[in-house]
Amino acid sequence: MAIDAVSMDKIVSLCRRRGFVFPSSEIYGGLGSTFDYGHYGVLMKNNIKARWFEAMILERDDIVALDSAVILHPRVWEASGHVEGFTDPLVDCRTCKLRFRADKLEDSQCGRKPSKHPGEIPDCDLTEPRQFNLMFETTVGPVQEAGARAYLRPETAQGIFINFKNVLQLARRRPPFGIAQIGKSFRNEITPGNFLFRVREFEQMEMEFFVPPPEAERWYRYWIDERLGWYLRYGLRESRLRVREHGPEERSHYSQGTSDIEYLYPIGWSELEGVANRGDYDLTRHTEFSTTKLEYVGQEGERYVPYVIEPAVSVERIMVALLVDGYDEEVVGERERTVLRLHPQMAPVAAAILPLIAKSEGMVGKARSLYEELRLRHSVEYDDNGAIGRRYRRQDEIGTPWAFTIDEQTLGDDTVTVRDRDSLAQERLPIPGVRAWLDDALDREWKTPKPD
Ligand code: GAP
Repeated sequence: MAIDAVSMDKIVSLCRRRGFVFPSSEIYGGLGSTFDYGHYGVLMKNNIKARWFEAMILERDDIVALDSAVILHPRVWEASGHVEGFTDPLVDCRTCKLRFRADKLEDSQCGRKPSKHPGEIPDCDLTEPRQFNLMFETTVGPVQEAGARAYLRPETAQGIFINFKNVLQLARRRPPFGIAQIGKSFRNEITPGNFLFRVREFEQMEMEFFVPPPEAERWYRYWIDERLGWYLRYGLRESRLRVREHGPEERSHYSQGTSDIEYLYPIGWSELEGVANRGDYDLTRHTEFSTTKLEYVGQEGERYVPYVIEPAVSVERIMVALLVDGYDEEVVGERERTVLRLHPQMAPVAAAILPLIAKSEGMVGKARSLYEELRLRHSVEYDDNGAIGRRYRRQDEIGTPWAFTIDEQTLGDDTVTVRDRDSLAQERLPIPGVRAWLDDALDREWKTPKPD
């Protein structure tokens, strides 16, 4: 396996330089591990969500969409087990005044000696571990009293479970069927970090698939394969993906089986997505706590509580994996270029339209009218600022797969060159065929030229 030139620092720097992601609240000194997304970051996140939504909803008949509230009834989190059990063990260091996850000390750095882990030097004075609940608390209404306490959701899944009955009745579904949701989740992580990998505010994409209990194992395996296939479809290298099954001691309280789809991030193999068999835990608990029966009753009167298979991932973890997998540096004609080899359907900009000479009215006119035509269907960018080589490099760095250049020849024969980001090959196309060419190119299968 080739060693990538990529490090997390290079990804952070490119994201900053090209306006994908900014540290949040920067003019106030920043707020650790929170980020704001700039134009290209938003476009890329929208593509990730759109591809997930296509695979989950538009290409299937058995999954419906939901958008539930962020703040739910506080009893939801008692029923789900989060009030009691959504905790991480925390230790304080009395010397450096920092807090660490007790189970991740070997991944943390001591505040005084950055090369050491907490507890490794005699100065370290760690407290006994205590459990710290990761849910953000808030109050609902103008009075701050115990009865008004609520939480920002730490996962989107519970909004789905509490709507099970609505969907069953109104969407007229019967197991196996799924409910999918994309939305923000919040966790007061003790040790956020590694750029977007572990943040306190993130966008989850979760799907709860309700199945007859005897079919749960088969669907669990099915969803692991489906999700792995989705990553391959969008160009992640197979050698950088693996499935790791949790042992019984590692599983969450609700889980009868969990597998992580892991990606080889610069920090090592880490969880990209989790697929869990949640059994009937959630529907049973919400039935108990709400006294509303959450079960399936068939036409012949058969009744059962479905089991749930859940693929769950954040947009952020996918974004980091795509950026890492796509990042490349190479020397072309004695010049270095940095290029993001993103799947064309994930790239923030599908194509750039570039008049070779910005001062040529003829070229600018042709370029602008092509741009106006393409922007109706795709995210495209017009750029006439600077030397053509610099403009290509700017597009390479944001991962734009194709550039259409309008030059002298265009004025004579109404053709443009199309430059391929990965191979740098150029071919000529008649302008009236560009739109159809781009539609086709975006639909084509794409494989990264990066070695495995
Ligand atoms: N409903 C199940 C659930 O939330 P999880 O393993 O805690 O399970 C699911 O989270 C996914 O959400 C993870 O696989 C990861 O992609 C993402 N995720 C979790 N915590 C995150 C964080 N602090 N920052 C970014 N993504 C996170």
